[in-house]
Amino acid sequence: MNILIIGAGGREHALAWKMAQSHQSGDIYIAPGNPGTAEFGTNVPIQVNDFETLKALAIEKNIELIVVGPEEPLVNGIYDYFSADPATAFINVIGPSAKAAQLEGSKAFSKHFMQRHQIPTARYAEFTLENYEAGLTYISNHPLPIVLKADGLAAGKGVIIALSQEDALTSFKEMLQDKQFGEASSKVVIEQFLEGIEVSVFALTDGHHYQIIGHAKDYKRIGEGDTGLNTGGMGCVSPVPFMDASFMQKVEKTIIAPTIKGIKEEGLVYKGFVFFGLMNCGGEPYVIEYNCRLGDPETEVILPRLQTDLVSLLAAADNGTLEDVNIQYQEDAFATVMAVSGGYPGTYKKNIPIHGIALAAGLADIHVFQAGTGFQENAIVTTGGRVLTVTASGNTLKNAVQNAQNALANIQFEGMYFRKDIGFEFP
Ligand code: AMP
Ligand code: GLY
Repeated sequence: MNILIIGAGGREHALAWKMAQSHQSGDIYIAPGNPGTAEFGTNVPIQVNDFETLKALAIEKNIELIVVGPEEPLVNGIYDYFSADPATAFINVIGPSAKAAQLEGSKAFSKHFMQRHQIPTARYAEFTLENYEAGLTYISNHPLPIVLKADGLAAGKGVIIALSQEDALTSFKEMLQDKQFGEASSKVVIEQFLEGIEVSVFALTDGHHYQIIGHAKDYKRIGEGDTGLNTGGMGCVSPVPFMDASFMQKVEKTIIAPTIKGIKEEGLVYKGFVFFGLMNCGGEPYVIEYNCRLGDPETEVILPRLQTDLVSLLAAADNGTLEDVNIQYQEDAFATVMAVSGGYPGTYKKNIPIHGIALAAGLADIHVFQAGTGFQENAIVTTGGRVLTVTASGNTLKNAVQNAQNALANIQFEGMYFRKDIGFEFP
């Protein structure tokens, strides 16, 4: 079957790589894609929110499966757009309806949902300009640190962890009165700080059943030892040592199963990936957030680790057989290490030539997944902060990380930086 992948990052490169291996896949198109995705299909220069042009492409190319990578088109209703037109309604679009995507698109919506279904999460309250004064009082009486979240999508920047009441009050004012994130911060969720270790768990659902397809630990800070500013993710490991059978059972029983049951009971149309952002608080899992898509760079370790054919799995989510799928994983541990532009997550230069990708990608059991790259006169150059990620496997996590770093040593671009301590806390 012909496939369309929507997005342009390392996640979409990994999706294209994995789906190209399936005997069921026909032609693969990626909109807009990057030089990495072009190795596995045809890049088409259509932006992810240009639904009309995407629909025309899907009809022209006889697309039968669409995988939506990023959250924005999902929250904007791409699923509903394709299902509303008889010409495209039969296409298996992987991604929830706009309503269900509110689990990621609105922090308040997801908090209400968790409360209705008794899913463990941080205590919270929500405020708008209408109860602004009550918010000030709430902050003044709140223990530190205080977590403030813009309700809507804010490109990963909408969460503030304030270490003092003053900082919390300033952020509260900036979000609500100064409209720091525009409409996205017209409502603010104030939340209890959860102390623990984060882990991302991924499931595929058809709105009734689910399969867990992997988990990963993402290293979000720019600096070694988890210091400095937050980024989109500097590397990942999978599996995570503390995700043993007993913890996983708790996650499934208290979080995943009730979430899918809640989706079903509320009649939310959800056929797609669910990303559970969890905190392990002394052995008890709590939900920090839901995302309605795969993570980046989590995808770059979970898909190489997943043995099961992805195209068949996505077909099963469409034809009512998801329950029958047998998920298989590689035995090895996997790690991915992200190379970023100098200065990221602040300002950085673009259009810098990258050398050595082919050399690294040619090594046994190494994948180079491109994220912020583009073509310039047939050379690959940087176009973003997170430039590329190198995934490797090993018989231990340490070896996997070492193998990824050894492979990354073949790649150079001016200003390139990567963390040398991914997986550092696991011996
Ligand atoms: P989010 O945009 O919801 O993923 O939040 C960004 C990051 O903020 C998360 O990955 C956590 O590291 C942190 N965070 C969010 N909520 C909490 C919380 N309630 N307690 C502690 N850390 C949090
Ligand atoms: N790596 C975190 C995310 O994709 O949101």
